[in-house]
Amino acid sequence: MTQPSDDYRESGLEFPEDFVFGSATASYQIEGGVTEGGRGPSIWDTFSHTPGRVYGGHTGDVACDHYHRWESDLDLIAELGLDAYRFSIAWPRIQADGTGPANQQGLDFYSRLVDGLLARGIRPVATLYHWDLPQALEDRGGWTDRDTAYRFAEYAHLAGEALGDRIHTWTTLNEPWCSAFLGYGNGHHAPGIRNRKASLVAAHHLNLAHGLGVSALREAVRSDALMSVTLNPQVARGDHDTSPEAIRRVDAVGNRIFTGPMLRGEYPKDLLEDTAAVTDWAFVRPGDLELIHQPIDVLGINYYSTSTVRMAERDLPISQEGTLIPGSEQVVEFLPQDGPFTDMGWNIAPDAFEQLLLDYQRDFPGLPLMITENGAAYPDRLEDGRVHDKARIDYLRRHLTAVHRAVQRGADVQGYFVWSLMDNFEWAFGYSKRFGITYVDYETQERTLKDSARFYQELVRTHRIPA
Ligand code: FCB
Repeated sequence: MTQPSDDYRESGLEFPEDFVFGSATASYQIEGGVTEGGRGPSIWDTFSHTPGRVYGGHTGDVACDHYHRWESDLDLIAELGLDAYRFSIAWPRIQADGTGPANQQGLDFYSRLVDGLLARGIRPVATLYHWDLPQALEDRGGWTDRDTAYRFAEYAHLAGEALGDRIHTWTTLNEPWCSAFLGYGNGHHAPGIRNRKASLVAAHHLNLAHGLGVSALREAVRSDALMSVTLNPQVARGDHDTSPEAIRRVDAVGNRIFTGPMLRGEYPKDLLEDTAAVTDWAFVRPGDLELIHQPIDVLGINYYSTSTVRMAERDLPISQEGTLIPGSEQVVEFLPQDGPFTDMGWNIAPDAFEQLLLDYQRDFPGLPLMITENGAAYPDRLEDGRVHDKARIDYLRRHLTAVHRAVQRGADVQGYFVWSLMDNFEWAFGYSKRFGITYVDYETQERTLKDSARFYQELVRTHRIPA
């Protein structure tokens, strides 16, 4: 028997027959049509139109024009042979200003999309919140306002009533860590607020939205629909003396701040201690933890890379990249990483992915895992109708190997969604980063399958990592 390689570059490994392969997208990143069909503005419209916030002044106004091209995009998914498609519903298409009755045109758009998926034999996996909060709710405080969680539950109920007979898996939130800490902590994402306390308040209200959202969905959707949330676990490592303490802190504020209340019904004690100088957490009201702690059927995991940490010698300014540990005398320092790197500058570490899956399986036994995002940006070039994205294939191969190894070692991972179906608006990086397995020419909106799409197509067809 051959030994598994350290660099995780395997081929031929076979995935279980019922293992689900899909691809993922998000509304604001692909749809465009931002003023059509009764859609109201979201915080990302405001943010991207604010000079200096997004690379090159790029916006999602047109994006991949998926709002108009959804049918041919579904054909693309069918051509790839995917089992499932993970998309997100734009809240401001369902409720333009985040409250009140549903906008029928918005519901109709997603209803047609879902029917189109089902007609092609593709499983619909819907995320309710992939960061496009109605601007009107932000004007009232956004995620720092407790009421936003209740508005989210109302929206979840409306979406559930309209689509709940057909959606296979519901995901309440995508990466609440980003919403809370990039949105309200360091301001790299919409709404661009920099405030330590606000980021913790936002995290709590996102937790509350998740719990209330699951309850609202359960009332509205078919009883066999699966409930989930997608997290992006912060994988910190380091071999400095103070790394273990730094890793603990990152884990507390990056991971257990969500898994604690959502999956255990409590905020970890060490998190409350670490953040005591910022807040006394009085915004957590009696009964909140019960509301948040709803049973879910599957946990979505997004994974891209890791960080290397140790304790900083003095408090670092919050604007500094990665300094997201609010309010202790000492905070965590994020050190330069070992390569190789993707075009995002993110390090490639499939071994950490394998370990993460095993850790989550150990910590939350009985809760199946779904890889809801994994993928890589590279500076692709379209030449003679082809994109030879070797590096992306290599990235996918290594991470699929990691998933396979985790499954072999007992992790209940039920499927894998590649990020992304196609190149799209990469948040603060605009269109400068390409994550797709499909190339998008933003001038013509023409889609071209990259070599990685062919690789993925073969994987899905054979359930083996292609050579
Ligand atoms: C994740 C987001 C997704 C995409 C990838 C690259 O954090 O959920 O929308 O931007 O990163």
